[in-house]
Amino acid sequence: MAQAVLTMPVIAVIGAKGGVGKTTVAANLGTTLAETGHAVLAVDLDPQNALRFHLALDREACETGLAGVLAGRANWTQAMQPGRGGVVLLPFGAIDDEHQIDLERHLADHPGWLAETLARFQLPPDTLVLLDTPPGPSVYLQQALRVAQLCVVTVLPDAGSFATLPLVDRMIDKYCRGRADFVADLYLVNQVDAGKRLNRDVLQALRHELGDRLLGVVHQDQAVCEALASAVDVRRYAPFSEAAEDFAQSARQILRRLAPPAPLAENRRP
Ligand SMILES: Nc1ncnc2c1ncn2[C@@H]1O[C@H](COP(=O)(O)OP(=O)(O)OP(=O)(O)O)[C@@H](O)[C@H]1O
Ligand SMILES: [Mg+2]
Repeated sequence: MAQAVLTMPVIAVIGAKGGVGKTTVAANLGTTLAETGHAVLAVDLDPQNALRFHLALDREACETGLAGVLAGRANWTQAMQPGRGGVVLLPFGAIDDEHQIDLERHLADHPGWLAETLARFQLPPDTLVLLDTPPGPSVYLQQALRVAQLCVVTVLPDAGSFATLPLVDRMIDKYCRGRADFVADLYLVNQVDAGKRLNRDVLQALRHELGDRLLGVVHQDQAVCEALASAVDVRRYAPFSEAAEDFAQSARQILRRLAPPAPLAENRRP
């Protein structure tokens, strides 16, 4: 069956490894992009349900999430939550192991689930959809890659991340590059410490390897962890921090590459 056609840009934040900063990047790109006047829907496709720590105004209300809707416990309106910086958050929801296995089986059996679900929301075309994903190959990553116009691949400036590039490339080849609406896979190097020689060397190697697929860098910045602990995004916690400027630059690059419809005069929420 043909996949549902989406009119709004979908950005998937992905990464082959755990703990590289995917959720941090998804959240901060979300709030930074929302500042440009676009409506932003941030969807947590990771059973850790961690995007809420960055974005939710009410974490307790994130127990339902998309897992709750799939289990028939709620509808989409109940699952969506107002988030920080005007972002609308669709949390993953809290789920036990058995329900998670059922849900993953459902997603494996319905490869077009995310495309159909996003199409059903009838979001205005100037909406940007951001997807947070778990590390490495999973049914969630497959769903995300099938709908993404842009993949933001988060890597660390270390040898381990460099070694995962072929795996990520194969996944993007399989699910994205054949699609007419796919724009690009862009790499964001997170937690860069310019004082460390290995970081500088790996960054140089990544520049050489990726060329214009290198989206940018986010520096290792205490403000990132402190912002999370204070339950605000980096831009609001420390507007002049290195990381806030890095996220702003990456957001500008993303908008340049996607060229989404201009935001409507009044910033609308999905
Ligand atoms: N640029 C940065 N500077 C400082 N700390 C950072 C930065 N980016 C991420 N971190 C910290 O690194 C840790 C891991 O980040 P995060 O949870 O976003 O990674 P992840 O890739 O989503 O992890 P997982 O694979 O478990 O989903 C967090 O404590 C976060 O605050
Ligand atoms: Mg994460």
